[in-house]
Amino acid sequence: MSALAELLPMPTSVTPGSGTLSLGRDGGWAVAGDPELADAAAHVLQEWRGGPSAAAAPLIEVLQDTALPSEGYELHVTTDGVRIAAATPDGARWAAHTLLQLAGTDAVVPACEIRDAPRFAWRGALIDVARHMMPLEWLYSLVRQLSAVKYNRLQLHLSDDEGWRFESRLHPELHRIGGRRPRTDFPNLRPADEHPHVGWYSQEGLRALVEYARALGVRVIPEISMPGHAGAWQRAMPQLAARPEAFGESSPWRVPQQALSLTPECLVVIADVLDELVDVFDSPWIHTGGDEVAAHAWGTENTRAKQARFTGWLLDQVQSRGRALAVWDEAVEGTDLPAVLVTAWRGHEAVRRSALEGHHTIAATHPVLYFDHPQHADDIDVAGSGWRSTWEDVLAYDALDGVERPENVVGSQCQLWTENLPTPRHVEVAAWPRAAAHAQTAWAHPSHDPTTFAPALSAHLGRLDRDGVAHRPFSALPGWWLPEPR
Ligand code: ACM
Repeated sequence: MSALAELLPMPTSVTPGSGTLSLGRDGGWAVAGDPELADAAAHVLQEWRGGPSAAAAPLIEVLQDTALPSEGYELHVTTDGVRIAAATPDGARWAAHTLLQLAGTDAVVPACEIRDAPRFAWRGALIDVARHMMPLEWLYSLVRQLSAVKYNRLQLHLSDDEGWRFESRLHPELHRIGGRRPRTDFPNLRPADEHPHVGWYSQEGLRALVEYARALGVRVIPEISMPGHAGAWQRAMPQLAARPEAFGESSPWRVPQQALSLTPECLVVIADVLDELVDVFDSPWIHTGGDEVAAHAWGTENTRAKQARFTGWLLDQVQSRGRALAVWDEAVEGTDLPAVLVTAWRGHEAVRRSALEGHHTIAATHPVLYFDHPQHADDIDVAGSGWRSTWEDVLAYDALDGVERPENVVGSQCQLWTENLPTPRHVEVAAWPRAAAHAQTAWAHPSHDPTTFAPALSAHLGRLDRDGVAHRPFSALPGWWLPEPR
């Protein structure tokens, strides 16, 4: 199979040339050209191949062409060298990734001319580190693997009912108490784990992750859930709970009945947390959750109306800190706040509605883009959810299907919720190969014939194997699930 047919995502246009170029096996590729763009490309090449640039290697020339789309690029490989054109450093990075895939393990690149540009500006993945804390070093690895298939957004779900993972210097009880639970009560098939689950990320650690990701073209968007899914917050600061008595009503693993009170004292703490988030994360967007607030979260008070007012308050708060507000789709219901970026998850209908209402919208569609669901009818459903999402489903999913105002759909995002994925290995197996199929639909186009796409996908699984990343096998036996943890 030609390396050109194994590119993932598939570029917009690929024209084979004649001959090959050997880039030298031991890293040391020489990059020159527009300083900013050449640096961006060289950084990606170094991250994957190592080594400083070597003068003797064939030249990779990176030039700016402002007529190209903002993340688009042209890659021209001849037997003499490589020429990359891009409008932005991001375009240069994605060109470098295409070159890396072409080079494979033997560093021999087929001559070719490639023109490429993304379908969507937002190509995202969410990782839930609240339900299960994942090691910071592994988040680096996740960013690296996502960037290799041209993802450019990672939403970091830092708090939920089951855990708070963001170091707060203003309110350290948030991570010290909220970052700890005595036991883990898995929702369904898996037995409860009687060990304490404890952890949070230091502000320095997160800053370094943000920096690392940015240099690979990935923006990290922090998410702190409020006013619902805030059980860990309320365990840490019970004085902020709307109905402290509601704590006994549900297990932390069910959609909870409790919410933050939103009293003046509570809003001061929320404002402090926002200050800390914008200090650590340079993301243009701050995500404040807002999903699944129980109908009687505030007793008899109208929940919908109160949440709508709160979203308006959050918008002012986040904008006054120079950032844009992002929320789950429930949080804008009944509001007139078109400036809010909406992560639409409640089925494809939520995507259509949000775009029609004028919101910039990310299709985070349940169930197809919820990668905690089993990937195949034969896989064990550890959550007992009954939902399925295969890589073929993901490949066929079109975020713009039936959308009346497609200009408002900025992209799509896959979700890696970790209620049932206790370790990085579990998350990797849930992510791949679906995250690769999603990369294809977010960058290139949906509805590619699965048989046409399969060689590229299979080649990508080989790349993951070489990098030591776990994934669901292409063909697994019925009743398959990865060997029990931990
Ligand atoms: C969600 O799945 N509750 C966003």
